[in-house]
Amino acid sequence: MEKVSNMQTKLFKFPSIGDQIHATMVDWSIKENERLGEDSVEYIKSPINYTGNKFRILNQIDKYFPRDVDVFVDLFCGGATVGFNVNAKKIILVDNNIFVIALLKHLASSDYLTLKRRLELLIAEYNLSYSAKHGYGYYREQGYVSGNNGLKEFNHDGFYNLRATFNRQKDKLTGHSLDMLYMLMVYGFNNDIRFNRNDEFNLPVGKTDLNKNNLQKLEQYIVRAKKIDYEFVCGDFRDKKIKKVLLKADFVYADPPYMITNAVYNESNKWGNQTERELLSLLQELDNHKVRFALSNVISKEGIINEPLEAWVKLGNIKCESINYHYRSSSYNKKNRWANEKEVLITNGHKRTFENPEQAIYWKQKEGFAPSI
Ligand SMILES: C[S@@+](CC[C@H](N)C(=O)[O-])C[C@H]1O[C@@H](n2cnc3c(N)ncnc32)[C@H](O)[C@@H]1O
Repeated sequence: MEKVSNMQTKLFKFPSIGDQIHATMVDWSIKENERLGEDSVEYIKSPINYTGNKFRILNQIDKYFPRDVDVFVDLFCGGATVGFNVNAKKIILVDNNIFVIALLKHLASSDYLTLKRRLELLIAEYNLSYSAKHGYGYYREQGYVSGNNGLKEFNHDGFYNLRATFNRQKDKLTGHSLDMLYMLMVYGFNNDIRFNRNDEFNLPVGKTDLNKNNLQKLEQYIVRAKKIDYEFVCGDFRDKKIKKVLLKADFVYADPPYMITNAVYNESNKWGNQTERELLSLLQELDNHKVRFALSNVISKEGIINEPLEAWVKLGNIKCESINYHYRSSSYNKKNRWANEKEVLITNGHKRTFENPEQAIYWKQKEGFAPSI
């Protein structure tokens, strides 16, 4: 069996069983070195290069997660970076992107070596580069790498043929289709996944290919999947079936599209004021049912304020932690990317009541959803 070389992940320790801190409330002052204990989880990277993934800030956010969790829900799971790196008896991962959920599920249930062989068959069939096997230098020496274009030229024809074949599939969710989708992501622009309204993959060829890094991420992900009890669920956070799942959870981590930033999954500004309010309302309902949660978000950027969120935070009944947002990977859209962006983690781990109930009534009238009193 091929070895995964040198896991570059950070070893993060969870507290020992019997830790009482979370019996009633989150201890906000907890330090990382106080969390050392028996159980430990090594952070792994998602096999899907997901814009906005939380890998670089995992250690900043999961110190606010309780540790006595039976059912953990990763709501808006994206590439599953958070869900696959937490310590819980059962992890439910929810997203409304059917392709992302199907792909993650498919990869998680694959056998690594068999999957690798299938990907190699696609490489051969579409005449794609394979730097995990031949090394990047091989393509450079052959004159296939020019300027800043990486392997773009080499893979141009093969990529577009593969894309056309994938887009012709009647069922894009079969195992074979999902293998092709994985390859389109790996060989495609910015390693993103994007579909047009006709469910056609529509990103152009990119500069990269199936390299050692991708294989390592795949193997680590599959190994992790075998060790944890997980379930992927495709749905909108407003669906009844999702709400049921959330109400039964011990802890919900929510990482929605950020209203005041841009990403592939929020290209046509589908996520606006109204959706934001619906989500906050849902989180408030969870709180009313004593379900603990943490919400990632950006509260302000370049003078633009996420008003519903700011108003909620100002009520003072939830806790708002600053997150160091300089975690984002470099990308084609680097310019101004980090400009004055204030990323936060909002939690309800503490139990509280409104000091001033009038505030809540005002809130309900003004903002359209009611916090608990
Ligand atoms: C910020 S990303 C999540 C990133 C993820 N936490 C990670 O680490 O990879 C937001 C996700 O929300 C999903 N999403 C957008 N609108 C949704 C909705 N109405 N219901 C459920 N999921 C939604 C998108 O498909 C996207 O994957």
